[in-house]
Amino acid sequence: MMKILILNGPNLNLLGKREPGIYGNQSMEEYLGTLRQRVDGYEIEYYQSNHEGDIIDKLHQVGFDSNYVGIVLNAGAYTHTSLAIADAISAIKVPVIEVHISNVHAREQVRHHSMISAVCRGVIAGFGMNSYNLAINAFINN
Ligand code: DQA
Repeated sequence: MMKILILNGPNLNLLGKREPGIYGNQSMEEYLGTLRQRVDGYEIEYYQSNHEGDIIDKLHQVGFDSNYVGIVLNAGAYTHTSLAIADAISAIKVPVIEVHISNVHAREQVRHHSMISAVCRGVIAGFGMNSYNLAINAFINN
């Protein structure tokens, strides 16, 4: 079965507990349960790390594996700071879609700029947890 990796960055292990007014009440594990039921014919893998280097290692590991159709990346705050993650995305073969739960453009100025958008296939932001599902659909329907 072809695979899709959801890769979450820092503080996203706290989904459900973290600023629920912005990120909602659902944990990622709960959401993954419904997501995996909805998505037919693809294996949805999940990895989360609070460490920039771990995220880069995972991109390298998966990024040359032809079993993966794509990587759905929510890099958290590293989105706004990490040239190293941008370079990793540029280096790999598997396409990456940048995802955000919140509409980063409706928030503080510092969240308006992304270091990674230009090297991603596309960007989805502002649809709550459904942002992940939309990104997966973009890979599946292409
Ligand atoms: C986020 C938005 C980022 O600005 C923030 O640092 C996050 C989560 C989102 O999913 O809305 O950690 O990527």
